[in-house]
Amino acid sequence: MLTAPQVELIQRSFATAVSSRDDLVIHFYQSLFDKAPSVRGMFADDIAPQAKMLGSTLQFAVQKLDNIEALIEPLRALGAKHAGYGAEAAHYAVVADVLVSCLEEAVGPSWTQDHAKAWTDALNLIATTMLEGAAQSPVDEAPKPH
Ligand code: HEM
Repeated sequence: MLTAPQVELIQRSFATAVSSRDDLVIHFYQSLFDKAPSVRGMFADDIAPQAKMLGSTLQFAVQKLDNIEALIEPLRALGAKHAGYGAEAAHYAVVADVLVSCLEEAVGPSWTQDHAKAWTDALNLIATTMLEGAAQSPVDEAPKPH
């Protein structure tokens, strides 16, 4: 569970990161593909539309962190779709690592260990909820007889 000061730290640092680097999400994908080249093929060649979607989802999640209940169902649904994309638990860990590094770089010298901890906790929570949705998704079920 995130504390109120952690939520505030996340919301403020996200706003700072986005205003200091408007290509934050594109930069995130470039770093992700450098660190984990094997996931490149899961995404379309043109990453710009994808980056927009991730940007707005992050914006939505960051705004709603103080009312986490409202995030559970949409994140489970997003996780179920991700099971279909082939996203696995290990991928979520790489995504979180790369995102935290990009945020740190964008925020600059005011970034602290508390920022790193708050973001890591939040991304863990998001990944756990998405993976719950993936576990409930019907992708692994045998086809139903007609
Ligand atoms: C913080 C966790 C994540 C968030 C918030 C997130 C968010 C999104 C969003 C909003 C989309 C747009 C399409 C949709 O609604 O399904 C998407 C698509 C996608 N995501 Fe994620 N994602 C996350 C983690 C991951 C991970 C760990 C992987 C695995 C490498 C992944 C791979 C993909 C792929 C392959 C697509 C579809 C790309 C396409 O259709 O070209 N995502 N993601």
